[in-house]
Amino acid sequence: MLDYQVLYVSKTGNTKRIAKEIFAALPGTSKDICDLQEQGRIQSAEIYFIGFWVNCGTCEKEVMDILSTLHGKKVVLFGTCGMGRNREYDQKIAHSVEAFLPEDCEYLGYFLCQGKMPMDVRRRYEEMLAEGREKDKVKQLIRNFDEALLHPDEGDFAEVREFVKSVLQNRTDHVKEKIKKDHENMKNHIDKNMVSM
Ligand SMILES: Cc1cc2nc3c(=O)[nH]c(=O)nc-3n(C[C@H](O)[C@H](O)[C@H](O)COP(=O)(O)O)c2cc1C
Repeated sequence: MLDYQVLYVSKTGNTKRIAKEIFAALPGTSKDICDLQEQGRIQSAEIYFIGFWVNCGTCEKEVMDILSTLHGKKVVLFGTCGMGRNREYDQKIAHSVEAFLPEDCEYLGYFLCQGKMPMDVRRRYEEMLAEGREKDKVKQLIRNFDEALLHPDEGDFAEVREFVKSVLQNRTDHVKEKIKKDHENMKNHIDKNMVSM
């Protein structure tokens, strides 16, 4: 069994770059990375990092299908979207994707960052602006589009590396806590049995 498997879907490459950064940040050699659209296969792993690009507020069907098979697994989600930093929006996206995970899986958190969008999106905004439709809103969308052109950037990569570190640290703390509890339970059990002998 692998320690980690990174599986992702990326239409224009943003999510792929984040996936590669995650893969590089994972310790050891017991790990695998694959693109779900290039016949990437799910392998047995301790923790799965599942990546998606945001399409109309959720993920692609390939990702939904994979998520729903992860019974009893430990899962981390990551993705990129056109929308700039907006905690509320990110949470909404993460919840909508997380909903495809089976109830018995252990969800370890999500990472989302901005990713550049295709140029035809900006052209559409420009047309809307020329037609005088919702000018302030469209100007804001154009500003967001231009900001997205710079992402993912070095800052996003640094953040995702920190995110991976904190996920793994939380896992280590969790395992240590469990071992401590098991040890205490066993000690109590032995003490109780010794008294009754
Ligand atoms: C058809 C389409 C739908 C999109 N829908 C959303 C969306 O609902 N919310 C959002 O923030 N970004 C949306 N985006 C922007 C992408 O999620 C963003 O550019 C992402 O970084 C693309 O990732 P990729 O390069 O891995 O394919 C959309 C882009 C396209 C082309």
